[in-house]
Amino acid sequence: MKLISYGKHSIDQSDINAVSKALKNKVITSGDLVEKYEKNLSNYFKSNYSVVCNSGTSALHLAFKAADLKKNDVVLMPSINFISSYNLCSTLGAKIYLIDVEPTTGQISYKSVLNCIKKYKIKKIKIIITMYLGGYVSDNVKIFNLRKKFKFFMIEDACHALGSDYLYKDKKYKIGSCKHSDMSVFSLHPLKTITTGEGGIISTNKKILYDRLKILRSHGIIRNKKKHWDYQIIKPGFNYRLSDINCALGLSQLKKINKFVYKRRKIANEYVKNLKFYTNYVNVLNKDKINSSSCHLVILKFNFNNLKISKDQLISFFLKKGFFLQQHYKPIYLFDLYKKKNELKFFKQSNLYFKSCVSFPVHFELTKFQLTKCLQILKKLMKKTN
Ligand SMILES: Cc1ncc(COP(=O)(O)O)c(C=O)c1O
Repeated sequence: MKLISYGKHSIDQSDINAVSKALKNKVITSGDLVEKYEKNLSNYFKSNYSVVCNSGTSALHLAFKAADLKKNDVVLMPSINFISSYNLCSTLGAKIYLIDVEPTTGQISYKSVLNCIKKYKIKKIKIIITMYLGGYVSDNVKIFNLRKKFKFFMIEDACHALGSDYLYKDKKYKIGSCKHSDMSVFSLHPLKTITTGEGGIISTNKKILYDRLKILRSHGIIRNKKKHWDYQIIKPGFNYRLSDINCALGLSQLKKINKFVYKRRKIANEYVKNLKFYTNYVNVLNKDKINSSSCHLVILKFNFNNLKISKDQLISFFLKKGFFLQQHYKPIYLFDLYKKKNELKFFKQSNLYFKSCVSFPVHFELTKFQLTKCLQILKKLMKKTN
């Protein structure tokens, strides 16, 4: 049986043509297409600089290194997130505090950040990481404004939010504009809004961060401008470069981003429309933010008591019917590796969120027929319990 997944990439002939053409270029890495892609991304975000690299995780690593994150520096991040940020900060020896999320958004809020600071009596913060779960942006400006007091770097793990925007004083800003952050980080993994196969982006307005990111991306090398065979290493860096072949795909995909996001928003609105009479059983998370979101995910929040089945049963049931659902995310404090450092009892809201939320299909290639079928299965299940 062909499974219909909660997410999927979309590649058409124009992408294939672009990649084929790039393969015939004289240079296939560190060439013009990398610079062109970075320029086009910055034009899209309206930011000063973009740096591309070979995954969202390497983009986060570069961002943490550019912020000069060191051993024992304090980092605050959401308890519900993909594991990349926690793994990286842990490897870098940072002192990590997980912030409880709001069950209504699955994200940290201004209030939950303040609660965390108060509870642990935190005086000095190096980095706060925000994450816009599913692409729905919450409290970013308020959290950013805390910088006045604590002087931290605000790094947005915006891996879900390529194509999302937010309002500030009646003006629309793109996530990635970095009007209210130091760096925004994106993933170009196939399930994200657009893809380069694997890939990542860091957007920033700060020249000093941009210079560091570029040097760190390629071994910390600075080339001698007069003697091309000579170079210095000014920081221990990495090879996180993205090839011209990937960038050719990225350039082609970027042309279609508005079309992709439009379709995702349309699908998300369909879920709202179809489920509005079933609110005793299910609600669409962040439904008031759909029209400003990339809609990377459609997360349904269930009342499993009323539904009279468990979350595991629901996911297994849909699998048998041909739908591959997912949970985003298992809280970090539940992983055996990180359990000891995090006290379970402090994450009441995240537990509530985790128990009730499941991600349903949303992507550009999802057909009306598939969506209708998925909704019919769900409605039938809810009617049965009446
Ligand atoms: C929120 C979040 N952060 C970071 C990452 C890591 O991105 P990548 O898979 O491109 O390394 C992902 C990818 O799934 C993600 O969803």
